[in-house]
Amino acid sequence: MNVSNERLRLKSLKDKIMTAEEAANLINDGMIVATSGFTPSGYPKEVPIAIAKRAEKENLKITLYTGASVGDELDGTLSRANALIKRMPYQTNESIRNAINSGKIEFVDLHLSHMPQMIRYGFLGKIDIAIIEAVAIREDGGIVPATSVGNSPVFVEMAEKVIIELNESHPLELEGMHDIYTPENPPNRKPIPLTKVDQRIGENYIPCNPDKIAAIVLTNRKDSVRPLAPVDETSKKISEHLIEFLENEVKKGRLPKNLLPLQSGVGNIANAVLKGLLDSPFEGLEFYSEVIQDAVFDLLDSGKMVIASGTSVTPSEEGLERFYKNIDFYRKKIILRPQEISNNPEIIRRLGVIAMNTAIEVDIYGHVNSTHIMGTKMMNGVGGSGDFTRNAYISIFATPSTAKNGAISCIVPMVSHVDHTEHDVMVVVTEQGLADLRGLSPKERAKEIIKKCAHPDFKDALMEYFNKAIEKAGLTHTPHILEEAFSWHTKFLKEGRMI
Ligand code: COA
Repeated sequence: MNVSNERLRLKSLKDKIMTAEEAANLINDGMIVATSGFTPSGYPKEVPIAIAKRAEKENLKITLYTGASVGDELDGTLSRANALIKRMPYQTNESIRNAINSGKIEFVDLHLSHMPQMIRYGFLGKIDIAIIEAVAIREDGGIVPATSVGNSPVFVEMAEKVIIELNESHPLELEGMHDIYTPENPPNRKPIPLTKVDQRIGENYIPCNPDKIAAIVLTNRKDSVRPLAPVDETSKKISEHLIEFLENEVKKGRLPKNLLPLQSGVGNIANAVLKGLLDSPFEGLEFYSEVIQDAVFDLLDSGKMVIASGTSVTPSEEGLERFYKNIDFYRKKIILRPQEISNNPEIIRRLGVIAMNTAIEVDIYGHVNSTHIMGTKMMNGVGGSGDFTRNAYISIFATPSTAKNGAISCIVPMVSHVDHTEHDVMVVVTEQGLADLRGLSPKERAKEIIKKCAHPDFKDALMEYFNKAIEKAGLTHTPHILEEAFSWHTKFLKEGRMI
């Protein structure tokens, strides 16, 4: 494969071009390897596949750091080849999830904004090799990233060597969409000078000393993007409750007419909520989030949204085609930043972001579990939900009121794992309704959550638990019957139904 001068602008690097197999030979057993990628977007593909092939034949195990989840070519292929010792900070792949939940891989679940600074502080060891997907390499060695930024700047800065996958499937017109700013370490850290969503504060490439570049692998393999399910009735109702809530906040003067910058998690509920905004009365919307999905393109196209800032673009296959076809328009409307900026508490608090994330289960007092199935099995990880929730202007958690065809209530007496505490959760919404928990004590919250959010099949049983807890424990601050608090979960594990 030949490379154009537009893609590889520093001619002296031409002799670093090699095959993925040759580049994979730079990896040794026990190394810490850090890659670009945030969701199945902008991650390297050829070298990880070549590492997995080596691992199938010889003893080769690595620790893998990324921005967040990545495509199957990394997490899937490497975990199936038993090539991973440890993984952080987030994943969504079935093969790696199974390996984590069967003890084959150690997984460290991290707030996504914490990871880059933890690397810079030296908490997570020395990165041996960074593998970064790029659209182009500049004359000064600077890397123009692809569809995600994630942790790539810190990985390039801190790694001993850098391997670049120069991917021609991404158009060169992506250049100019990124905004790379790196905060200094304390005690020299200054305020991050970002006060508006549409502001650019850094460079449009990742600085890289060309001497660090050990290999360049040419490819045109596309990101394995994920399809999005059509909006179902449950997600639609959740979206309607949320929009009604936001309209009321505007009426009460607690939000401006164009709201405040929105953050939205990924997945089908998040997509439905954003799609719901298309038919809402809101205009001039701004998006300050992590991931930019198809619904954001709809909002930008319609003119309802004026700017979207994130750390990755994660469209469906149709969405990706549309994104590339209209890239000149989207480059003016989309800014991709490092995840330590997109998820930065200082900025989230300053901008007054409205955070909307998804829960696995919520308890009657407002604690949220976003990560663990039945308290023990890792689903994906906390991702950026904590970064946004703790610092939001309004923090919202959505979940269907039941799971597994009604066998499970997603509102439970006590969550089986806590990711977001009662102190951080302001609003809970299910298809049944919305509970506004601001200013409520635990006992007031319990009544509100059970009344507004629980499914009718579970409502009486939840109320019964709450009343019994008051009877048994007395009017303590947070009444519980400890021996019964997890009885719904244990019953499900034994009998396949919570009650
Ligand atoms: N108990 C047990 N299982 C449950 C459950 C509950 N209360 N609620 C959902 N599940 C199961 C579902 O049945 C489904 O199982 P399956 O994979 O076997 O079909 C699985 O959990 C995922 O549920 P689904 O409804 O498909 O959820 P989703 O795709 O909307 O994801 C989260 C929900 C919470 C897992 C996901 O949003 C997440 O990982 N959040 C944390 C990270 C985050 O918020 N990132 C964005 C920040 S910017």
